[in-house]
Amino acid sequence: MGRQNFKPGTLHAPLPAVMATVGDMENSNIITVAWTGILSSDPPRTYISVRPSRHSHKMLTDTAEFVINLTTERLAYATDYAGIYTGAKVDKFEKLGLGKIESSVVKAPTIAESPLALECKVFDVLHFGTHDVFMADIVNVSCDDSLLDANGKICLERAGLMAYSHGEYFALGEKIGKFGFSAAKETKRAASLVKSPKPTSAKKADDKNGEKERENAHVPFYEKYVKGSKGRTPCRKKGTKKGK
Ligand SMILES: Cc1cc2nc3c(=O)[nH]c(=O)nc-3n(C[C@H](O)[C@H](O)[C@H](O)COP(=O)(O)O)c2cc1C
Repeated sequence: MGRQNFKPGTLHAPLPAVMATVGDMENSNIITVAWTGILSSDPPRTYISVRPSRHSHKMLTDTAEFVINLTTERLAYATDYAGIYTGAKVDKFEKLGLGKIESSVVKAPTIAESPLALECKVFDVLHFGTHDVFMADIVNVSCDDSLLDANGKICLERAGLMAYSHGEYFALGEKIGKFGFSAAKETKRAASLVKSPKPTSAKKADDKNGEKERENAHVPFYEKYVKGSKGRTPCRKKGTKKGK
């Protein structure tokens, strides 16, 4: 099997498709943005990339504030709608029946139905090609009570978040591991493993590799190759040479 080359494009996936809110409580708008991400942890900084032709672009430029509202399966319709229709012609909050609540720090409202919102203040705008990048400090994070456990910890896995990939929306699948699990001690690694991937390659295992190989076909990479290794030992199968 080979690989085909394609002309340069924006096929980065999956991405979040967030609903960014701009303006203030009286005059607000929602724009769906997939070109977003994190710039820095400390200070916490993010960005949204917005075309100058968007109605929201002017509001962003005027106020230098926005809120990133994370989206869920339930918000999929609203997310798509807010990314198709312009606030120059329609009040998207009203049309979509979304609740508008006051944010804690910025004037731009928070969408009540969004499980988690990042309030942002723009510190710079960079102009690249088709989109302008509004880079911002995250000045507050608000989270719906329903996502907090008894200790006040945010359980985002309960939110039903969605992702955007190659023009389509997806519900997130099941958890397959947690941050750092590849470096955890084996017992902890096993505990953090929710479910092994399905044995898709089992049937294809070559007979000459024997029963053992077929048995192992569904064993995840780290169990197969890192088993017995300590700490952050590189994941290399015993006996193979570096670079192979
Ligand atoms: C899934 C999705 C992702 C989008 N991502 C972006 C984006 O990152 N930047 C952007 O400028 N427009 C993006 N758009 C298009 C805008 O959301 C769309 O043009 C919207 O109608 C603009 O609203 P406004 O004119 O009220 O500001 C996206 C649309 C969809 C459906």
